[in-house]
Amino acid sequence: MRADLSAVLYDEDEIAAKINELAVRIDQDYEGKDLLMVGILNGAVMVMADLSRALRNHCEMDWMAISSYGSGVASSGVVRILKDMNTSIVDRHVLIVEDIVDTGLTLSYLIENLRSRNPASIEVCAGFRKPEAARNRRVDVKYLGFDIPSDFVVGYGLDYAGRYRNLRGLGILDPKVYS
Ligand code: IMP
Repeated sequence: MRADLSAVLYDEDEIAAKINELAVRIDQDYEGKDLLMVGILNGAVMVMADLSRALRNHCEMDWMAISSYGSGVASSGVVRILKDMNTSIVDRHVLIVEDIVDTGLTLSYLIENLRSRNPASIEVCAGFRKPEAARNRRVDVKYLGFDIPSDFVVGYGLDYAGRYRNLRGLGILDPKVYS
């Protein structure tokens, strides 16, 4: 798998250190509150697993699965909920856990959808953010792992054609794999 990467951006230890930093902030910010973390399947499984176990306080976890309409290459911003949460979020402190924010279209749709369900609060934690989302600030990512280049990346939950999610680090996929 590693041979298919043109570069490793962050290895396992660097990611773990960053996740621990985020967990400290989240523990502080949600002290005395019931935190509900909502992971977006499938990409967020690694962030969710590591972040939740780095917390000192209780958290509940739930999951959503969504798919973007459109070409499959570019995000259209219109998303379909394939699997909804099992939990009501009315008056809950919701933290959306996402793998990567590229254009931010997917997340902005999701946030709008979840806001209409009247949570007490709603924030976003994402492992990685691409320059487009950093520029347009369509979504306020309160808890961000790393700002990365716009290359197509895989690993730490992120896939290409269903593969590479189980790489421990994050790397740039060599274009020869998909060209
Ligand atoms: P957005 O709506 O443009 O922000 O797209 C976000 C979604 O696109 C993420 O949840 C990922 O599933 C996918 N995505 C964006 N960039 C990458 C990448 O570099 N590698 C793998 N998946 C990506």
